[in-house]
Formats: sequence, C-alpha cells, structure tokens
Amino acid sequence: MKESLLRLKNSAISLILDTNNQDELEELRIQFLGRNGELTQLLKGLPKVAKEDRPEVGRVANEVKQIIENALMQQGSAAKEQKIKTTLDVTEPGIRPSLGHTHLVTQAITEITEIFERIGFSRVRYPEVEWDWYAFTALNFPDNHPARDDWETFFIDHKPDPKKGTMLLTPHTSSGQIREMVSAVKSQTEGQKAPIEIKMLNIAKTYRRQSDVSHTPMFHQFETLVIGQNISIAHLKGVLDYFVKSYFGSKRTSRIRPYHFQFTEPSFETDVSCGVCDGKGNLPNGEACKMCKEGWLELGGAGMVHPNVLKACGLDPKKYSGFASGWGVERVLTMREGMQIDDIRLLYANDLDFLKQF
Ligand code: DAH
Repeated sequence: MKESLLRLKNSAISLILDTNNQDELEELRIQFLGRNGELTQLLKGLPKVAKEDRPEVGRVANEVKQIIENALMQQGSAAKEQKIKTTLDVTEPGIRPSLGHTHLVTQAITEITEIFERIGFSRVRYPEVEWDWYAFTALNFPDNHPARDDWETFFIDHKPDPKKGTMLLTPHTSSGQIREMVSAVKSQTEGQKAPIEIKMLNIAKTYRRQSDVSHTPMFHQFETLVIGQNISIAHLKGVLDYFVKSYFGSKRTSRIRPYHFQFTEPSFETDVSCGVCDGKGNLPNGEACKMCKEGWLELGGAGMVHPNVLKACGLDPKKYSGFASGWGVERVLTMREGMQIDDIRLLYANDLDFLKQF
C-alpha cells in the first residue's frame, strides 16, 4: 500500500511538472485528488491493511495528498506568470523616449542668422578645409607674415596647390569674404554687368591650436561682409548697433575702437556695453565690475575692406567699398547677461546636466 502511494505521488508529480496549462492542471487535480480520484480509490483498500500498519499508511497518504496539492499550486502560479509574459497588453502605456533639443551653440547660430536675415543678409557656407590663398594671401597677408603663426593654424598634410598654397583648417571665417567676392565677380562677368551688391553672413567652424578656459580648438565665428558702391563706416556702426540691441537687449550700446587687421583699413575692435554694471565699470556698491573692463566687453574685429583685398578678388576699389566683421559665436553666447559659463570648454564636454539647462 505504501509503495502504491509513493508510485501514485511520483506519477502525479511528473505529470504536473509536464504541463503549464491551467485546464490540464485542473484535470490532473481531479484525476488524483478528486472524489473518485486515484488517491481515494487507493485508500478504499485501507481496511485490507494490517491494523498496526494503518496509522503509518494514513500518515503517508496525507503526506502524498499534501505534496500533490503543493505541486499543483506551484505549477499553477508559474503558468499564470508565463501567460502574463506572453500576452501583449496593447492598452498598457508605452515608455516615452526622452526628447533632446538643439545644442546651445546651434541655438545661438539660429538666432544670429535670424537677426541678420531681418536686415537682408544671406547666410552662406564655404569650405572649412581651405587653401592658404583664401585664408591669408588674398586677405592681404604678405608671404611669411607672422600672422600665419599668430593664428596658430592647423595645416593639412596635402600637396600644396601651385597657385593657392597649402591646405589648412580655416582659422577664421574671413576666408568666406574672399570666396563670396570671387564668386560675385565670376557670376557678374558671366551674366549681365549689374553692379555687385553683397550682404553676406558666413557662420562656420574655425580652428586654432589653443585650449584653455576661454578657448577651444574648434569654435564658431560669424562673419559679415557688405559690398556696394557707397558703403561707409556709418553702415558698419549701424549694423553693429542693431546686432547688439537685437542679441543682447535694447539697453546695451556699442562702440568701435581703432585697431589693426591686415585685411581692413581702417580696422576696429568692437565693444558692447556691460550688462552687469550697465556700462559704468562699477557696481552700485562702488566695487569694480568683475564681468568687464571699465564698462565694456570686447565683441571682436571689424573694419572697412582693404583695397588690396578688393583687388585680389577682382573688384575695383575706386568703384566699390565695403565693411566686414568677424565675431565669435561662443563668445557672444557667454557674454550674454545671466550666462555664467566660467570655462568655455564646458560647451563641448557633452555634459548632459549642463546642456539640459538651455
Ligand atoms: N578674422 C579676425 C579674427 O579671427 C576677425 C576679423 C577682424 C574679421 C576684422 C573681420 C574684420 O571681418 O573686418 O580675429
């Protein structure tokens, strides 16, 4: 009897473990533990067991019943879990992908473009891998001029062009001036001879061998070039003022100071009044402003296009004049009021906690 009970238990367990279907498990429960199930049938033979063995057989029978019940229960909940896993609940809310946004330098480029487009400038793009001729020679840099070192240019290991010289990464966006004027002259001689008019905005990557709190080896400049028949310093100052007020706010003012650049004459440094001390250089408590130098922040270079530059591009300096400016995108970005960016390299450190703020 005891052996039969143990055999019954074993066959029940192996059948139970073989299924993960609730209906089949219920059938097995009836087959083994049901009112007319195998266990009951077996126990009908109990009176035939010797009297002294009966308590032991009864204990084993209970144990077998308990074990089968437990096995049915465990297998039942495993089956339930499996069912959950294989069922697709189409009403369950999905996992939202996290949304990014444009980088703050891209945001600044878009904003600068819109500001200049409003007064008729067109954004252009020119190569960032450039020939020396466009980046230096045509911009009135004499051969062996130390400025080629000052710019700490990255040169490309490429056979020099007999006319255009070495290949390099643009150290400034001023090369775009040359590209723009050369192409304007070219399309003029191909078509009819309408006077040349240029209002260019060249925003591009520039590269110099420098890296510290205020420099990154790759940065962006935005270069303006206006060419026409009666362009004067007044136009340059007007555009500078318009940009300063549009980008920094209506309370800010601008000034130009004499300076020297190879490709402009006269040349200027352009400044913006400081937004922290309101251009005064001192704070209300009498302390010197830490943000600026005596109330002004340097924006960058500008000037009237040098006659030699006009000539290099095929324009007659007696007929045409123009102004140009070259300012840094990262620079104007960090000069904005409330922008506390102590280390400009942070812009390109790919630090999401930093970038998410903008
Ligand atoms: N290319 C100069 C630089 O990178 C900036 C500059 C100065 C651009 C005067 C100009 C200009 O167009 O007229 O420092």
